[in-house]
Amino acid sequence: MINIVKMRLLSIICVSPYNPVMQHLSVLHNEVLALLDPKAGESVLDVTLGLGGHSKSFLEKIGDSGHLTGIEADENNLKLAQERLKAFENQTELVHANFREIELMNLPIVDIIFADLGLSSPHLDDPDRGFTFRENAPLDMRFDRSNGITAAQLIKSLKEEELANIFWKFGELRTSRRLARAIKEKEQVKTTLDLKECIEKSAGYKARDILPQVFQSLRIAVNDELGSLEVLLNIGPKLLKKGGRMGIISFHSLEDRMVKKAFRELSQPMIDDVTGAVTEEAPFEVITKRPVFPSEEEVEGNSRARSAKLRVIRRVERV
Ligand SMILES: C[S@@+](CC[C@H](N)C(=O)[O-])C[C@H]1O[C@@H](n2cnc3c(N)ncnc32)[C@H](O)[C@@H]1O
Repeated sequence: MINIVKMRLLSIICVSPYNPVMQHLSVLHNEVLALLDPKAGESVLDVTLGLGGHSKSFLEKIGDSGHLTGIEADENNLKLAQERLKAFENQTELVHANFREIELMNLPIVDIIFADLGLSSPHLDDPDRGFTFRENAPLDMRFDRSNGITAAQLIKSLKEEELANIFWKFGELRTSRRLARAIKEKEQVKTTLDLKECIEKSAGYKARDILPQVFQSLRIAVNDELGSLEVLLNIGPKLLKKGGRMGIISFHSLEDRMVKKAFRELSQPMIDDVTGAVTEEAPFEVITKRPVFPSEEEVEGNSRARSAKLRVIRRVERV
């Protein structure tokens, strides 16, 4: 009897293995398609390919005569996306790189640039990556494991004050100094559990409330996420054709503030200081006067979408 139960269980596990592509839901999928409006024959640059969810839909819209370049920092995700987009291999170029390098990549100008910032579900689902406080694992947190230093190495290399600044700037943690002290006092912080113990020591029963911010702030620092976004906001618009659209989904206020400011500046005309007359029309227009949020239904089905905000600009035809 026990053997039969065991065999049944085994067959269930075998026919339904964990499939990250199936588990991963692309955030604001319909809104992205509606606002970026990919058309037959257009070219797309997806700088956060992830598991290729948004890219697959772009490819379906741009058809055989279109072209998509996908950039992904994480080699595992890149492989999953390559597999998923196999049917489109003649129209795609998928590259293992950080989008902060786009200026050096000799990319042609395109109709659409898209970024869906931050991490993907496999990063959280794979405890070995060190992104989640729910499992004990080496404290890594790099999107690209072939490059840069891990969160554990970063913690070791920083002074107490520098560490506190990370928690303050990227996590808006009011207890950043106390936490940094607890971390630096610990003999070694090599795993997610070591870090969790420091948080518990410093915040007591409130630790649970700040765990997500602490992990998020270290992740932002390890991957220099705001530095990369700044490059994208500077270089991306220059790579857009006339009429081209650029859409960015951000997941926390620091990113959204940067996107909002950059898009606003790009959509301002040049004004003569003396006469106040317009000397040069604005090169871009903001398509999303307010950020686009996911629907309640989407958040219910995918809690990761909860804090997503989408903003889109368009290069005007005449500039
Ligand atoms: C939210 S996921 C993208 C999901 C994707 N839109 C989809 O539908 O499958 C973000 C992805 O961007 C990657 N990423 C984050 N920052 C990056 C960077 N600076 N350069 C390249 N890839 C980056 C992450 O590794 C992750 O796979």
